[in-house]
Formats: sequence, C-alpha cells, structure tokens
Amino acid sequence: MTTVESEALLRARWERAGQGQVFRFWPQLADLERARLSRTLLSIDLDLVHRLAALARDSQTAVASPRFEPPEVFTLRTRQAEPARVAAARARGATLLRDGRVGYLLVAGGQASRLGYDGPKGAFPVGPVSGRSLFEIFARRLIAARERYGARPLWYVMTSIGNDGETRAFFERHRFFGLARDDVFFFTQAMLPALDADGRVLMAAPDAPFLAPNGHGGTLMALRDSGALEHARDHGVEVFSYFQVDNPLAAPADTLFLGLHAEARAQMSSKVVVKRDAEEKVGVLGRVDGKLSCIEYSDLPPELRNARDAQSQLVFGAGNIAVHAIDRAFVERLTDGGLQLPWHVARKSIPALDALGAACEVPGYKFETFVFDALAFVERSVTLEVDRAVEFSPVKNKSGDDSPKTARSAQCNLHAAWVRAAGRTLPAPDEHGDVPVEIDPCLAEDAETFRARAPAAPAVSTQGHFWS
Ligand code: UD1
Repeated sequence: MTTVESEALLRARWERAGQGQVFRFWPQLADLERARLSRTLLSIDLDLVHRLAALARDSQTAVASPRFEPPEVFTLRTRQAEPARVAAARARGATLLRDGRVGYLLVAGGQASRLGYDGPKGAFPVGPVSGRSLFEIFARRLIAARERYGARPLWYVMTSIGNDGETRAFFERHRFFGLARDDVFFFTQAMLPALDADGRVLMAAPDAPFLAPNGHGGTLMALRDSGALEHARDHGVEVFSYFQVDNPLAAPADTLFLGLHAEARAQMSSKVVVKRDAEEKVGVLGRVDGKLSCIEYSDLPPELRNARDAQSQLVFGAGNIAVHAIDRAFVERLTDGGLQLPWHVARKSIPALDALGAACEVPGYKFETFVFDALAFVERSVTLEVDRAVEFSPVKNKSGDDSPKTARSAQCNLHAAWVRAAGRTLPAPDEHGDVPVEIDPCLAEDAETFRARAPAAPAVSTQGHFWS
C-alpha cells in the first residue's frame, strides 16, 4: 500500500468515528508533519476513545452514593504492642531484600504542573544541605540497601513521553548516582487524548492531538508492555516496592512493610499516615461498597470527612502516602488481556487549538486510571500506619502546604533529631527556623544507625552540616 493510500484509510477510519477534525490542518502540513500526525493517530486506540467519550457524557449524571467504611490498619500502637510480630516481619522483609526478591518501582510520569518546575520532577533539588535531587536521594537509599543486603537493587523507573528523554539524560549526566546502569530499567507509560465537551479529540498543534499521561494506574500495563514485568520475573523479583517521585522521605527498602505484606500473603499493601486534619487533601484508605480502595478527598462526603470516633480520631483518617507493596504475580494477573482498572474522568480547561488554529483554553476532559484502584482486586492486603515525620513530606505545590519549603523543614527536623539523640553538635537554625542538617542515606536511615556509625564530624558549609 502506498503512503497516500494508507493515509486515506486512516482518515476514513477517524472520520467514521466522528473524529475527522484531527485532519483539519492537514492541507497546510508539510510531508514530515503529516507523517508525524499519521503515526500518532495510528497509535491511538479509537475504540477506547469512543468508550471514554461515553464515560465523559455519563459523568454528568449523578450516581448512587456508595457505602464507605474505614479500613483495618496496623497502627503505630499495634507496632508497640506486638514486638514479636514486628520482629518476625522485619526478619522476613530482610530475607526478601537479601534474596533480591524486591524490585523498586518509582512512578515519575506526572507533569509537575502544580510545582511549576521546568523539568522532570525527580530532578528537582530537595536535599536541604546537599541540594541533591529527588532522584539522587532515592538512588542513595537504593545504594544503602545494596550495601546492607548485598542484592542488586533493581530499579524500575516509569516516565512519560514528555519527560522520558530528560529523565534518562539526567541519570546519564549524574552517572546513575553511583548505581549500576544495568540496574535501572526505564519504561514509559501510555498517553491518551483529551476530549472536548462533545467527545472530540482536541489538537495541541496542527500536527499533534493533545495527549496526556494515562494516570499512575498506567504503570501496571506499562510494566507489561515494556518488558519490565518479564525482566522482573527473570531476575527473581517477587514484589515491587512502589513509591512516588514527589516524596523525599519515601523509604522503599522497609523490612517491616515488606515483611508484613509477605507474612499476610497479601497481593497489594499500602502505607498510610494519620491525616493532619479533616481538610488535608490526601486520599484515605477505606472500603467502598465492601471493596478496599483509596477514597479521594473530593469523593468523601463532608460528614464522613469530619466524622470522629470515641477517642476523637478521624474515622476516615488513614491518609494515603502512595507507597505500596505490589506482588509481581498480581500485576501479571491484573494486566493479562488488558488493564482492568476503572477510568476517572477529570473536567479540565485544556490548552488546545480552536477551529481556526488559534491557541485557546477549551473546556474538556482528561482520563486517568489510578494504581490504588487495584486494591479492589486483592484477596488480602496490609494497611500499615507510619510516622509522617519519618516517611511523608511530598513536594507538590510551589508554596504553602506540601511545597519545597515544607519538605526541607521535614528533612531537617528528622535528621536534626537523630544528630541530637546521638549527642552531636547541631548548627544554629537558619532564617526559616530550620536546623540545616542532612544525613546521607548510606550513612544512616534511622537514629540508632546514626548513633553507631556517625563519623567524628560532619562536612560543614554555608548551607549547613552534611553527614556522610
Ligand atoms: C496522590 C494520590 C493521593 C495521595 C497523594 C499522596 C492520586 C489520584 N491521589 O495525589 O491519594 O494522598 O498522592 O502524596 O494519585 N504520576 C504518573 N503518571 C501519571 C500521573 C501521575 O507517573 O499519569 C505520578 C506523578 O509523577 C506523581 C504521582 O503519580 O509521582 C502522584 O500524582 P499526582 O497527580 O501528583 O497525585 P496527587 O493528586 O498529589
């Protein structure tokens, strides 16, 4: 078939689907641009677009309100009360790590739009003294795990088309932060078109439809499509330790969490922190019509959001920090024959071209799947409460809550507490009230290890004290 014939077929298919507008600018396109547009359109699943358009239409009509229940949580108090169980779980987790059964899975495909950072979010500098990027801090934790357990730290890093090249280049530029290049497996999530209010694919440029990443639920299918799942199986990985790129305190080699997950023979488990207050905008773990799920802030009716128990704790207070243990076999089952997760429709103002080719904001829809919706498919799961001060301080917004400033304070506070507990000297607080101190994960990841391993003195600079 000639190029002209195959383009004509493609066009006929899109016109039959009521999406002929994607060819609106065709007459003015150069050959290369036509080829690019054809390639992109060929990669889009038109049947899926059709289903999503119907979903967007239906999302306008109200649905019956589901039944919400709080989940069962392995709390910090349980941890204190059951030392034998904790010790057994830790030992099991350590064995998994030693035997190389754990693969680290980082999702970094998002667009960092709220942070307004021009680059992959993982390249954002967050180390309070070192200025290290999020990627480097995670890499150091993986190196620490390698040193401690002796197994290759296989790291699966999910990007999206918009930031894949820059992410890989960043790793290259920093020589993989000391990790072996072969231990890092990059893979890219799929993209989906955004639709206008009538369900038509929007154009971002005359030769390009508007595409957005398909949500972190897309991780599961992308693992399979990229060969990462097979790679993990071939290398003996049984469980993925999943975490998000925005949390510098994420602890991916946590023996307790991995051990509890394995002891419970769970398919997917989650870490939570107690919500700061009813209005904190995190999702909460809970059951929806009996099925385990993460209930997004906006989906929880205000009376449940504010409900408190006899001890005046929030009933729906198990805040999702987006750290999961996910069995490889579970991912294989869930993605066999296509991804089984529900679609979430978001109404958004989308920067697109109008019919005349002028740039404008169009009211429309974006579509995503969420990884935590996989919880609905598990038979067994562990929900582990962790201490927010130790494990959760995401960088999401330019300022205010969950910003670089709060993440800096959280890291300084945590590390200063370890230094103080070891009786070592701290620098004076800086102009923000933070004690500028940072500890390299390869030196210590908790107070006890710091006390045992800290060198005579930290490296001192105008930025603060750095212990390594
Ligand atoms: C998310 C969770 C929320 C949780 C909070 C904790 C959702 C819908 N909600 O909120 O329950 O309390 O984190 O911090 O996720 N990503 C991709 N590809 C995508 C979309 C996102 O890789 O297509 C990655 C991002 O890079 C980021 C993470 O997923 O690492 C979170 O995405 P984001 O949209 O920022 O979620 P939040 O609304 O902050």
